[in-house]
Amino acid sequence: MLAGSNAICVLNLKNKEIGVCRDGSPVAIGLATNEFFIGSDVTAFLPYTRSVVFLEDGQGAIINKIGCKMFSLSTKKALALKSTVVDWKAEAAQKDGYPHYLLKEIMEQLVTIPKTAHLNKSEIKKAAEMIKNSKKIVLTGCGTASFCALAAKYLFAQQGVATEMCGAYESAPTLEFASTDTVVIAISQSGETADTLLAIKRAQKKGAKIIAVINARGSTLERIADVSLMVGSGPEIAVVSTKAFTAQLATLYRLAGLSSAVPHDVAPIISKAGSTLKEWLNKKHLKKIARLAAELHNQEHLYVLGKDLQYPAAMECALKVKEASYIHGEAFSSGELKHGVIALVDTRTPCIVLGAKDAYENEVRASAAEVKARGGYIIGIAPFEAPEFDITIKTPNLGPLTILANVIVGQLLGYYCAIGRGADPDKPRNLAKSVTVK
Ligand code: G6P
Repeated sequence: MLAGSNAICVLNLKNKEIGVCRDGSPVAIGLATNEFFIGSDVTAFLPYTRSVVFLEDGQGAIINKIGCKMFSLSTKKALALKSTVVDWKAEAAQKDGYPHYLLKEIMEQLVTIPKTAHLNKSEIKKAAEMIKNSKKIVLTGCGTASFCALAAKYLFAQQGVATEMCGAYESAPTLEFASTDTVVIAISQSGETADTLLAIKRAQKKGAKIIAVINARGSTLERIADVSLMVGSGPEIAVVSTKAFTAQLATLYRLAGLSSAVPHDVAPIISKAGSTLKEWLNKKHLKKIARLAAELHNQEHLYVLGKDLQYPAAMECALKVKEASYIHGEAFSSGELKHGVIALVDTRTPCIVLGAKDAYENEVRASAAEVKARGGYIIGIAPFEAPEFDITIKTPNLGPLTILANVIVGQLLGYYCAIGRGADPDKPRNLAKSVTVK
């Protein structure tokens, strides 16, 4: 009787049964010895069982003392209970000695980024073939995943592959023109974001093929995509997305390499970047970033500038600061500076400038100089020092993957600013981990 996405779970006290059904929103049933668990996500019961049944739309289940029975909601006919064992460990959903999940998940990237070099080999090849055989490629997602989509657009362009990018929530004018020659690359940590699912369903109706880049197992997106690249970061508990972003981008970097006219797997580059990041992100750097956050956390506004790949990086850094600490962080392409943004710069306005050792280094430095000349306080996050920077957080030069290091600094700034302002970095107010409704 209900219209719209929903999942319902009802306890019948009289006969001691629980009924659960799904129409659009996720339901996972955990199976353990003499115990059952129902959640919208596996992480809800991961400490108890890894054996899971994912309900599909139009399916229901009844759980009682005898067991769990599945059935079709329309025909009422019994369905086989097909369980899968998720490869996430219970410890992965615990804090592991860290004060917050967010910090733990940021630090885990030292493992989850290089891990992507060993995953999805055959799936990436298959996805690359789909891309080569298509005429239009659209990258999409919401929130952090949309910035990953934008960053991937630059990575594909570097490999000579033209793509379009749109936020899934504004995909209509782009996907309206999808056809059987279109491939949509949908990026999502959870694989359950309503707008992302709607966008790909719209594209599928037009005949488009779907490549999904997902972190969570057993999601709706995984089920409906033609090829799924599972990025293997393990459960991401903090609402603010971190390790999923970097693993998705590293995976898309591999896909871009294999989709180029001269296909090549950049897995060794990713592995090497992983080792460099491990050496770089030591206690000394963490302390420096924490000290910088202590200088910034009483600010109400800060700006983040970047160019080319550092532009989506700027957007992602601004989002981390916004979500975790509630400081108004806003990102701009450094090229946009003179078109209005510069009017916002006042004495000591903090302005984070993201740089890389690329063709735009000088242009970005020139923008930093413009802001500095108007009294702004310039925080350089880059693999180089520059006289335009008042303070520099030096990141390693990882070529195109410098974006990963720069974003990690933005994530840490968000975390430490949240701590300084007394905000809960794991559960920011008003935000949900996955937005499964419109
Ligand atoms: C919410 C979360 C964000 C996330 C976005 C997309 O807004 O708070 O952290 O980036 O959803 O989620 P997805 O699971 O599709 O990546």
